[in-house]
Amino acid sequence: MDKILPIASDHAGFELKESFKPYLESKGYLVKDMGCFSTESVDYPDFIHPIAKSINDGEYPFGIIICGTGNGVSMVANKYQSIRCALCWKPEISALAKQHNNANIIALPARFISLDEAKEIIDSYLSAEFEGGRHQRRIDKIHI
Ligand code: RB5
Repeated sequence: MDKILPIASDHAGFELKESFKPYLESKGYLVKDMGCFSTESVDYPDFIHPIAKSINDGEYPFGIIICGTGNGVSMVANKYQSIRCALCWKPEISALAKQHNNANIIALPARFISLDEAKEIIDSYLSAEFEGGRHQRRIDKIHI
């Protein structure tokens, strides 16, 4: 189960999503593409609620979401109690998102990063480990 990697985007993130799918598969992940499926304009909440809910419900351990800026998709995902979605535009940020925030979704800004940058950001997130300790204490204080 933990090798299934759900991904989703809006139209602005569609091309980047399609571009890194084979890369994820080459790393041994079974990619579950939850849309969207073309560059036709869509509303990002329609595609992000289902992926965020499935991770929130424990169906998958983590996922990747993409829109033009990464902001809209992050805002939707972070509505869910057990989601910690981090907007990541550099590999250092995505590593820290796992190490310090135990992020279970990373959001990528498709209009501001290249495919190579996206791969580095994803790799960095996937290879990092949550450090626990004081970071767990801080995470425990996030919920309202
Ligand atoms: C779509 O034009 C754009 O607004 C969307 O992809 C995203 O960046 C919103 O936050």
